[in-house]
Amino acid sequence: MKIALGCDSAGKPLMDVVETWLRERGEHLVENLSESAAGEDERYATMSDRVARRVLSGEFERGILMCGTGLGVSISANKVPGIRAALVHDTYSAERAALSNDAQIIALGARVVGPELAKAVVEAYLSARFDPASHSAANVDAIDALDAGKT
Ligand code: RB5
Repeated sequence: MKIALGCDSAGKPLMDVVETWLRERGEHLVENLSESAAGEDERYATMSDRVARRVLSGEFERGILMCGTGLGVSISANKVPGIRAALVHDTYSAERAALSNDAQIIALGARVVGPELAKAVVEAYLSARFDPASHSAANVDAIDALDAGKT
């Protein structure tokens, strides 16, 4: 799976751990789309928008965003119509984000969870796949209808 990563400076310590772990495992192709210049902090909204649009385009199948709380990046990514970004800090919700909500992106807060839980959350999310034939499909369609202004 091709996965886009993005973080601000508050998310970076945790993202560094998760990115290294994902690369070492070699199961997925990961690309970090953060663009903070040295000493500068890129706005999490700008970074999240970039990641969300490149996921929506199909270039990446999933995205993982991090900031201090995960709130700013999830709110920002969800401003892109068609994106379903889920803020998750436990493995059950991470799995359900894929299975129930077909979330293309998850968001985590580096000041909320430690590295081992973050890895378990990412693992739970990446291991789960949405089934378009499931009873959740109608709910996902209804979310997309809101984005498309069809309700
Ligand atoms: C730090 O700027 C912090 O506010 C940010 O990383 C994020 O937690 C916002 O939601």
